[in-house]
Amino acid sequence: MEKYDIKDAKLAEGGRLRIEWAEREMPVLRLIRERFTRERPLAGLRASACLHVTSETANLMRTLQAGGADVVLTASNPLSTQDDVAAALVNVYEIPTFAIKGEDNVTYYKHLHAALDHNPQMTMDDGADLVSVLHKERRDLLPGVVGGTEETTTGVIRLRAMAADNALNFPIIAVNDAMTKHFFDNRYGTGQSTIDGIVRATNVLLAGKTFVVAGYGWCGRGLANRARGMGANVVVTEVNPLPALEAVMDGFRVMPMNEAARIGDFFCTVTGDLNVIDEHHFELMKDGAIVANSGHFNVEINIPALEKMSLHKRLVRPFVDEYTLADGRRIHILGEGRLINLASAEGHPASVMDMSFANQALSLEYMLKNYSKLEKKVYAVPEEIDREIARLKLDGMGIDIDTLTPEQVKYLNSWEEGT
Ligand SMILES: NC(=O)c1ccc[n+]([C@@H]2O[C@H](COP(=O)([O-])OP(=O)(O)OC[C@H]3O[C@@H](n4cnc5c(N)ncnc54)[C@H](O)[C@@H]3O)[C@@H](O)[C@H]2O)c1
Repeated sequence: MEKYDIKDAKLAEGGRLRIEWAEREMPVLRLIRERFTRERPLAGLRASACLHVTSETANLMRTLQAGGADVVLTASNPLSTQDDVAAALVNVYEIPTFAIKGEDNVTYYKHLHAALDHNPQMTMDDGADLVSVLHKERRDLLPGVVGGTEETTTGVIRLRAMAADNALNFPIIAVNDAMTKHFFDNRYGTGQSTIDGIVRATNVLLAGKTFVVAGYGWCGRGLANRARGMGANVVVTEVNPLPALEAVMDGFRVMPMNEAARIGDFFCTVTGDLNVIDEHHFELMKDGAIVANSGHFNVEINIPALEKMSLHKRLVRPFVDEYTLADGRRIHILGEGRLINLASAEGHPASVMDMSFANQALSLEYMLKNYSKLEKKVYAVPEEIDREIARLKLDGMGIDIDTLTPEQVKYLNSWEEGT
């Protein structure tokens, strides 16, 4: 097995500084790492992780290593890797890493296989690509795998579909479904970092522009609110009446994409769905429209259709492809339609990843203790872990809250006391 595959080992020092910078905003993970160093709860565990290779992920890897795990890391998206972080993981922290920003699909899958060559007992995934390759192409390794974790909405949906088909061979904990994950990471993390990615890629003013958000789930709520905060006129598109209604009452204009396509200056998809912006939408867009995606896969925008409709395509700035249509209109696609917050920015701020990755670390520990009792299904993060992370996060922020009095506990548990 190759030991690692990174862009340039000489970038390691810059990566180390970036990892240390992120760590300052990750007090919960730091507390877990201190306990893991003392107790070594993961001693000897072989784990293969497929996560965005960022400074925050590096701090998770260090935490698992401190707990005694023998861990390797591969990227969960071809464009999300921070090459200096990958270099530091290998050279400073001695964690085998397979990830190069901008790698093609062949290399991406070669790296997934390299991570699986580690013969893992546990998997950690962000989007379920590792588990999918394991079940489709590396079934010989399945008998050795006892459990795994999954980071994102799209991965959890894929894994639940596998479990429903009786195709899943081991239990998985859905880290995404922890409240200390999606309430914060998907909403505030995606909200801020997606705006950051769009601004870094384009440097176009948002104030006064029409910004279309497709999908009003956890990510969409965060993004719509942050876009409004930048002074944009925000339009939301949805397919589910409930979040659509919520968007209306949160003060956004809601309309079908067919209408939004005509008026948008910016578009960003965050649905986890396919072809949300399609050929007939490009037909309607204004000259100069800027189109991005912050959902997990690059299928939300139908880029192959746009390629076919276009006379020319050129890279006009890093992460900005300009497509010129037959009638002269130009459509700009950011970051090849891949998660824009990771392609042109740095992903979520460390403070939210602190909670997401605290869930990862504690879920892995929980899985190791409990896998023999679990079925081949997708499980929620245990509520005690979720609450403990919220408590530690508040502690880390120096915020105290009230405690129920015995009288209040009694009242809240009784049905006799009424009007
Ligand atoms: N960019 C990031 O760093 C990041 C972080 C977390 C999650 N994600 C990804 O973002 C995506 C959304 O995650 P979420 O947690 O918000 O999911 P969610 O399930 O809470 O929300 C998705 C919303 O999209 C809506 N939707 C589906 N198809 C649609 C369509 N054709 N048009 C308009 N709306 C549509 C759904 O009704 C739903 O309300 C997933 O792919 C997830 O994996 C990305």
